[in-house]
Amino acid sequence: MEKNLASEINYLRLSITDRCNLRCLYCTTWDKWEKLPAPEILRYEEMLRLAGVAAAVGLRKVRVTGGEPLVRRGVVEFIQALHQVSGLEEICLTTNGVLFKDLAQDLHAAGLRHVNVSLDSLKRARYRELTGSDNLWEVLSGLEQAAALGFHPLKINCVVLKGINDDELLDFALLARDRPYQVRFIEFMPTISPERWRPHFFSMEEVRRRLAAALGQGVPVGRNPTAGPARIFHFPGFRGELGFISTLSQHHCPTCNRLRLTAAGRLRPCLFAAPELDLKGPLRRGESDEALGQIFREAMQRKTAPRDDLPPGCAMIGIGG
Ligand code: 5AD
Repeated sequence: MEKNLASEINYLRLSITDRCNLRCLYCTTWDKWEKLPAPEILRYEEMLRLAGVAAAVGLRKVRVTGGEPLVRRGVVEFIQALHQVSGLEEICLTTNGVLFKDLAQDLHAAGLRHVNVSLDSLKRARYRELTGSDNLWEVLSGLEQAAALGFHPLKINCVVLKGINDDELLDFALLARDRPYQVRFIEFMPTISPERWRPHFFSMEEVRRRLAAALGQGVPVGRNPTAGPARIFHFPGFRGELGFISTLSQHHCPTCNRLRLTAAGRLRPCLFAAPELDLKGPLRRGESDEALGQIFREAMQRKTAPRDDLPPGCAMIGIGG
């Protein structure tokens, strides 16, 4: 029996690059950010081998993240190859959606069905200010194309930022009324300095209160065993659903089912705690699958008790959310 707090650790988030084509204001402190030298980043063959090892120790679901995963060349072939890894049952992608429109068809042909798109504003000028890039149309049309191709579930991740996009809660919610999207509101985590983070923190409780005033309470939707921490609700007349993710005001440690593999090949047992286990070193030294599997097992055992702070330098760009 693993000595972890979760009932089953079955979900690996795999960051395939630390590069991103957006510069979202809340993601990290960009003037201090340094990209990893290319040789430090795992090659696709290395990640595929680790995915096989992960499956052998019981991980069933892999989410490909970044940075922005679609900026890495060869990502479609990689996702296709991931679908061939025996033991993996669910392959998902988290993207900012900018390049998705052009790749949706190929990704669908590669076997992909589960996509999360990060989108924090539905207003063009605001989207541009927030991300540094004028691509709202590309993201929205990519979503439509994905729905038409039959991607399902199709999720939208919206980080709620007080004073920046908290006037768009209902607009986002209504997207899930009109289209088959699961729109998920996410509590803003302190990935930037406390002085810059705190003024924009907006609790999930408040999000739910505001939406309930307009839409009612909704009906909770059951979760599957590889589901993340979102609480999902259905609302009458909606084609899609709404989800609420409160990482700070409510910890999920007892039910957290995930490990994270960074682009640099380090295995992170907990988003909220810095210690990581190196997999790249042992992998490149030629260790056996057995020995690599042992490192996964160790990470499973190291999942920690609740914490209230993110360690400094915990930027999603290196970890993948
Ligand atoms: N707080 C909450 N969510 C964040 N993400 C990135 N940074 C933060 C943060 N500080 C989200 C992205 C993406 C997911 C991978 O993580 O918007 O949807």
